[in-house]
Amino acid sequence: INSSEVSGSEGMTILDVAQKNDIPIPTLCHHPRLTPSGVCRVCMVEDEKTGRLVASCVTPIAQGMVIKTDSPRVIEARKALVELMLVTHPDSCVVCDKGNRCELRKLASELGISRLKFRRMRRFHLLDDANPFIERDLTKCVLCGRCVKACQEIQGETAIDFAYRGFDIKPSTFQDKGLHESNCTFCGLCVSFCPVGALSEKSARSRGKEASRARAVSTNRVVGGISIISV
Ligand code: FES
Repeated sequence: INSSEVSGSEGMTILDVAQKNDIPIPTLCHHPRLTPSGVCRVCMVEDEKTGRLVASCVTPIAQGMVIKTDSPRVIEARKALVELMLVTHPDSCVVCDKGNRCELRKLASELGISRLKFRRMRRFHLLDDANPFIERDLTKCVLCGRCVKACQEIQGETAIDFAYRGFDIKPSTFQDKGLHESNCTFCGLCVSFCPVGALSEKSARSRGKEASRARAVSTNRVVGGISIISV
C-alpha cells in the first residue's frame, strides 16, 4: 500500500490492513462495530494492477495487490462523491446538533471542498419529533445505513430499515410512521451511530459541542469588604 510492503491474514479487507499499518483511508458508512456494507464509497482506493477503484472496506486483500490510497484518481473520485452527498445536504449547520462538526463536513474540509460544482437539490422530509427523545431530520441523512445496522445488529431490533427506492430511499419505520408509533425502544443507539445530524437527542438540542474541556477552579476572596469570585 502506497509503496510500503504490508501483510494481513485471510479475510482481512484493504481497510483493515491499512488501519493496522496506520495508513489513513477516510470512511463514512463504515463503523468497526458493524458489518461493512460498502455503500458510500468514500473509502475507495486504486488497485494499480487492475486500474479499478474499489471500496477498501469491503474488498478483501489478495496476494501481490498493489494499492494506492491517495492517487490523483482516488482523490478526484472521492471529492466528487463527497460533493454529491453535499448537494442534498442542508447548508444550515447552525441548526444542527453536530454544530458543523459532522463527519461529512469534516471529510469535505479534509478534501478541501469549499464550493460545490454541482447544482443543489433539495430532499424534503417531514421532521419526526413527535416523541420525547429523538428528533429525526432526514433532510440531513446521507444514507450510510449505520442507524439501521446498529438497530439490527447490536440492539437486535428491527425498528428501522430502508424503504422506497431511488431518490426517495430513506431509513424508515414499518409503514413509514413516526418513531413513537413503531417498535423503537428509544435506546438512542442509532443517534450515537449517525455520522451527521439526521438523528439527534432532543435533550441535547442547541447544547452545541465543546471544542475542548478545561477544569474551572473558583476562588473566593474578600478585598476591602467586597467578595470577589474568580473562575
Ligand atoms: Fe467503505 Fe463507505 S466506508 S464504502
